[in-house]
Amino acid sequence: MAKLTIVKEGDDTLRKVCRPVTEITPKIERLLDDMLQTMHEAEGVGLAAPQVGILRRIAIVETEPGTVYELINPEIIFTEGEQIGSEGCLSSPGDYGIVTRPMTVTVRAMNRKGETVCYTGSELLARAFCHEIDHLDGVLFKDKASRMLPAEEIRRRK
Ligand code: CO
Repeated sequence: MAKLTIVKEGDDTLRKVCRPVTEITPKIERLLDDMLQTMHEAEGVGLAAPQVGILRRIAIVETEPGTVYELINPEIIFTEGEQIGSEGCLSSPGDYGIVTRPMTVTVRAMNRKGETVCYTGSELLARAFCHEIDHLDGVLFKDKASRMLPAEEIRRRK
């Protein structure tokens, strides 16, 4: 596995619409492995391929250590409820904003074996699914934030 460089906000790559994956190749599998290592080293709970400069519809989410969701061509097929909470992004280190997301979402995606899978998550997991899938369409959390948190408030929340 190799650690990849995380693209920071301001880079055009983060504003592109990513292309679907048509075939799982060893390269895609390696990308998933490298993304996981990169996310772990950055201490994040999600990472999307455009954040490492790859314009493909691939994201990983791990809100509970050890439970990794590998999402290839993910689509949100169901949402329910609403949650309002703070959110950040590995591409915008140190910045947090208040974003409204569904309380529960169901995602349909392909796994690395090429199988269609559905995952349902609530609270932080639902938020992470939405955040990472937004990345695949060039959308960042700040686009959806009702307000950004001042530094003072970030310290208080930690
Ligand atoms: Co992000």
